[in-house]
Amino acid sequence: MCGIIGYTGSKKSLPILIEGLRTLEYRGYDSAGVTVAQDGCLVTVKSRGRLTDLEAKLSSSGELYGSAGIGHTRWATHGEPSDKNSHPHSTEHLTLVHNGIIENYAEIEEMLRGAGYDFVSETDTERGAKLVDMFFAKSNDPIDAISRAIKVIRGSYAFGIIFKGFEDTVYAIRKDSPLIVAHDGEGGFIASDIPAILKYTSSYYRLDEGIIAKVSTEKLEFFAPDGSAAEQKLETIDWDIEQAQKGGFPHFMIKEINEEPEALRKTLEPRIRNGLPHFGIEAIDGELLSQFESIHIVACGTAMHAGLIGKAIIEKLARIPVNVEIASEFRYRDPILRKRDLVILISQSGETADTLAALRHAKAQGVYTLAIVNVIGSSVAREADSVLYTWAGPEIAVASTKAYSVQCAMLYLLAVRIALAAGAIDEPRARQICDTMLSDIPTAVTEALKLDRQIYDVATKLVAAEHLFYIGRDVDFALSTEASLKLKEISYIHSEAYAAGELKHGTISLVTDGTPVIALTTVGKVCEKTVSGIREVKSRGAYVVCVCAQGLVGKYDIPCDDMIVVPEIDELLATFPAVTVLQLLAYHVSALKGLDVDKPRNLAKSVTVE
Ligand code: G6P
Repeated sequence: MCGIIGYTGSKKSLPILIEGLRTLEYRGYDSAGVTVAQDGCLVTVKSRGRLTDLEAKLSSSGELYGSAGIGHTRWATHGEPSDKNSHPHSTEHLTLVHNGIIENYAEIEEMLRGAGYDFVSETDTERGAKLVDMFFAKSNDPIDAISRAIKVIRGSYAFGIIFKGFEDTVYAIRKDSPLIVAHDGEGGFIASDIPAILKYTSSYYRLDEGIIAKVSTEKLEFFAPDGSAAEQKLETIDWDIEQAQKGGFPHFMIKEINEEPEALRKTLEPRIRNGLPHFGIEAIDGELLSQFESIHIVACGTAMHAGLIGKAIIEKLARIPVNVEIASEFRYRDPILRKRDLVILISQSGETADTLAALRHAKAQGVYTLAIVNVIGSSVAREADSVLYTWAGPEIAVASTKAYSVQCAMLYLLAVRIALAAGAIDEPRARQICDTMLSDIPTAVTEALKLDRQIYDVATKLVAAEHLFYIGRDVDFALSTEASLKLKEISYIHSEAYAAGELKHGTISLVTDGTPVIALTTVGKVCEKTVSGIREVKSRGAYVVCVCAQGLVGKYDIPCDDMIVVPEIDELLATFPAVTVLQLLAYHVSALKGLDVDKPRNLAKSVTVE
């Protein structure tokens, strides 16, 4: 997720911009840049890499002393991390920073080429900047130019803009991406998040969607798109910088779980066009997809568990065999790969050594590889034949949460696409699934987040446990594997996921008085069977928590001690709110134990060694 800062006031802007960007580093970035307005010019310096790389470049450029400027840390979405793709993007009449994704950038590019524009970067942002430029060239009116541009742009954005001829003013607007505006009496600020302005003021305006902010040394003004004056609500906080970076949440993990509805929207919306999955990749949208006879999903850790969900949904919808493999096994065990197989690699970081090695192994066998990756330009993304980015924004907590949810969402979309190509489902059914995913998944996950208090209460009963079991069947078993990993990695409670029907073949001997068992029942056709498993553990004294789909509550007599009801959604999609519930449960157990939730012992976010 990109970071934006802008300043105009009585001080030199550059130190404020750099310091502001430093406080936004937690958002994750791969390049950075600033533009400072001075002597009637807009001077831009930008660099791939860390802020220190930008500072090194700045120290060898001429002095930037201007008192107005904008700065940006870029987390690549369109185009790899590079100097030219970094922001700010400057045109003949303006300089602009952007956070978000302009979905119709290709259409905009075509329109602009017709008007004589050329492009130097691969970014959607440059298209947006030149669109504003085109309108500004006609009217010489910043507010008019911004209003016209946002009528054309589809997608999400927070923009900070300085126009030539208006160099001491910073303009800003946002939609679906955060942006705040503030004034400390001596100057005005725009920023992606509160930490960037906290040193100067604790009062700020969270810009309403569609409202244009005009920030000058003397004051802040707000305008509706028709140019009329608008009111915004002043807010004040009393957080310190660290609290502010976590958005007021005590840990990054809980913040990231709360970001799931938004992350899911960002993954799904741009990939559904005219009601059907559309990836903008010839191989995946076209003929090739119908030719695969079997699929191998290869990944590590949580990403591998997302693969298990992918297997369930692809096999269900497309009736094509899917094999899920741990990357560290796949790379050495000489798997059977045929020419008409597809290998899907899943990785949040795109840098996991075993996943990368598995990808190289598959490519060496001449098999088509598709990566599902969160970090743009990462090694797995670069080396795979095709890549689908999940656009969840950076994940900071070591325990993966929102990245897992969006990986599952991407696999669902892929499953629908593969099923269509294979003729296993027809277009109306595909449209219906896509429609429900888009409208219901973010809503149901938002509802699941509201169960936090109840989940916390259940967590208080698990903190003293030494061993614990998750049970389920079908997709619920796949989901159990991730729920169990989440709990054990951050709470240090030994936990195992078991197929509910398999318990009686050995593991049930470990269930005694008070052993906690978390039972998942979200799949109607096997619910009754899982209930039998629950009876088996209950009669041996287990403390049973049932995580049950709303539609199944009351249909069966489930002998449990606590029940968490997963918000209502089409059964096919129940995984999404259910996983949020299970992540919250793991989170609360760890937090209640007073452990280092975000940095559990012995673990790393990205494992780049074998
Ligand atoms: C580490 C992380 C896990 C992650 C796994 C795979 O073990 O702690 O959270 O699931 O690596 O990482 P990747 O970046 O490839 O998804």
